[in-house]
Formats: sequence, C-alpha cells, structure tokens
Amino acid sequence: MYEGFFGMKNTPFMANIPSDALYMSSMLDETLGRLEFVAQKQLFAVVTADVGCGKTTALRRFVSELDKDRYVVLYLSDSKLTPRWFYKGLLDQLGVESKFYRGDAKRQLHQQLEIIRGVQHRNVITIVDEAHLLAKETLEEIRFLLNYRMDSMNPMGLILTGQNELWDKLKLQRYAAIRQRIDIKCEIPQYDRSQTQEYIQAHLQYASGMLDIFTDKAVDEIYQYSAGSARAINKVCTHCLMNAAQRNKKLVDDYTVRAVIAGELP
Ligand SMILES: Nc1ncnc2c1ncn2[C@@H]1O[C@H](COP(=O)(O)OP(=O)(O)OP(=O)(O)O)[C@@H](O)[C@H]1O
Ligand SMILES: [Mg+2]
Repeated sequence: MYEGFFGMKNTPFMANIPSDALYMSSMLDETLGRLEFVAQKQLFAVVTADVGCGKTTALRRFVSELDKDRYVVLYLSDSKLTPRWFYKGLLDQLGVESKFYRGDAKRQLHQQLEIIRGVQHRNVITIVDEAHLLAKETLEEIRFLLNYRMDSMNPMGLILTGQNELWDKLKLQRYAAIRQRIDIKCEIPQYDRSQTQEYIQAHLQYASGMLDIFTDKAVDEIYQYSAGSARAINKVCTHCLMNAAQRNKKLVDDYTVRAVIAGELP
C-alpha cells in the first residue's frame, strides 16, 4: 500500500518486527539484563507495564537471545489457566501427557525438571504472560511450585508478566507469600516524548525507506494521543502513513495526525 510510496522494503509499526530490529530503550535494555540474570540464577521475576507497552515483545527478545543448548523455555499465556491446566500446559510443551489429577501432574512436572536439569544439563525457564488475569488459586499453585526441596533451591526460573494491576494484586496481604519470593521486579514505563520519537525512528529504520516522514509537531501529537504506548503509536503512525500516501504527501505533519485521530481512530 503505502510502502512503495515511501520507498519501504518492510512494513513499519507492525507486531512482526524482528526482535533484532526493536527499539532498544534504556528500560528494555535494563529489563533484558535483569531477565538474563533471572535465567542464569533460576530466579523469580515479575514484569509489569501498562497495556501495549512492550511486555510480550521484551519476552520475545529475551527468549530469542537465550542459548537453546542451555535453556528450555516454557511459555503460557492463558487467562483461564486453572492449576490443572497450568501443569498440563507445561507438560504438553515438554512432550509429556499429563495425568488427570493436579498432584500427579505436579509430580510429573518435577520429574521432568529433574531430568532436564540432571540429565540434559539444561535449565527451565517458565514464562506466564497475561498473569494479571490469573485466579488466586493458580497464583498459589505457582507459589507451591517454587517450594521445592523445602525452599532450598528454585526448580526453574519463573517470569510472570502482566499489566500493572498484577503488581497491585500481588501487593494484597493474601499474596504476601508469593510477593516475598519475588527476586526481581521490572516495571516498563510508557515512553516519554523523546523516546516516542526514537521509537518511530527505529520502526522507520527497519522499514528502510524514508526516515524523515513525521515532523516534530506530528510527533508531539502522536505522543499526546498514545501516551507513549507502543501499540497506540503503531496504530496512529500506520493510519497517518496510509492517509499521507492517499493524499500523495511525503510528510506527515501535525494537521494530518490530528485529522487521523479525529476521523479514523477510536
Ligand atoms: N521495543 C520495541 N520496538 C519495536 N516495537 C515494539 C517494541 N515494544 C513493543 N513494540 C510493538 O508494540 C506493540 C505492543 O507490544 P506488546 O504486545 O509487546 O505489548 P504488551 O505490553 O505485551 O501488551 P498487552 O498489555 O496487550 O499484553 C507490538 O506490535 C510490538 O511489536
Ligand atoms: Mg502482551
């Protein structure tokens, strides 16, 4: 569509941007450093951010950088995860058919973890995305999973990711036992104005077409609309590019952004 008009080889502002072309904000860099530490030491981390601010993307990059000979990554993203489905989901990914009862499935999982660790000499990292939606029962089960050999060692690295309300939830007294076990906490903030500009540039760089498309005032408007959320920036920028291309304009100015926001976006 507009890619040809702007001389782009790739489509910018899309979810499928390769993990090595991401905008590397200082916070993303720091988060990745912390997650690497979590993997090495088999710790328990909680990563939170507002909706659309790059949590899943950060995990994607983290996983892509892990040495597959040393780590086995299990990824769950299911808001309706009951404890039984939690174990089933993990065992499925390990190629093991889970037993029906929760206790049996839990034992099966521990056996698998022992094999991976003791025989294959690899470490398991479990990632639970959208964790803010998990029921208390499932969060409790995850806590029990970490009680291993009377707490003397973590059986796996565990990363819970979710929207900011995950942290609000974990602050409640009834989650104190889980909260106390958290080793690393990362909060990814929204981008500020200059990061919003850098983010847009990173996507245009990846598109490898024209780089100077959005005027400074246009970026001001995009920042205001998106509040620095990556997904919202993607949406408004994509609509602006389509709108500009349709009108044969190579530049997106603040008028265009305002018109797009008023006419095309929710
Ligand atoms: N650092 C980045 N560089 C380039 N694009 C990014 C970056 N971070 C996020 N994005 C893009 O922004 C969009 C939203 O990111 P993502 O899905 O990771 O957010 P999220 O925090 O997981 O959202 P949700 O709260 O809905 O789960 C995606 O299309 C993603 O490709
Ligand atoms: Mg996500």
